[in-house]
Amino acid sequence: MESLDRFTSAEVSSHSSKTDCWITIHGKVYDVSEFLEDHPGGDKILIQASGKDDATEAFDEIGHSEQAEELMDCFLVGVLDGYDHTKAVVHKKKPRKVVKKPRSSSGMGNGEMVFTWVDYIAPIVILIFALVSWYFLTFGDKNA
Ligand code: HEM
Repeated sequence: MESLDRFTSAEVSSHSSKTDCWITIHGKVYDVSEFLEDHPGGDKILIQASGKDDATEAFDEIGHSEQAEELMDCFLVGVLDGYDHTKAVVHKKKPRKVVKKPRSSSGMGNGEMVFTWVDYIAPIVILIFALVSWYFLTFGDKNA
């Protein structure tokens, strides 16, 4: 198995900008520079976390999904030198399952169609408007 590079926490915290951003989670060092714009939690939170010693607690507090944890492997660049695993208190929230549902039938998702009240009301309102317009256009002049 390929051994990973070791970095001191000072080295990791020196990479804390928008173009060069490293974070430490559970003693592993991740270069998330390329991921900043795509991170669903935003880039700022990652840049802030990169300046600190350890982002483990913040990461765990969010209750990241298993998909997020799998994604992390893509950014792994090394391990933190002298990381004490016994100190890694994990207040881990239950990882959530990411189920993406479109909010209405107009959403382009690959899940099942979910209809909201707007989907039912909108055609009825349009129909009433059309009937009222038709009535006034047809009979409006005769009543004048
Ligand atoms: C390599 C590291 C990371 C990866 C790959 C990652 C990935 C993700 C992904 C995929 C999501 C969408 C929700 C989910 O699937 O769980 C997410 C949401 C989020 N992440 Fe991260 N994340 C990382 C690190 C962090 C860190 C260190 C923090 C905090 C300092 C953080 C804070 C958040 C927040 C606040 C959200 C949004 C939660 C919400 O909208 O409810 N993430 N992240």
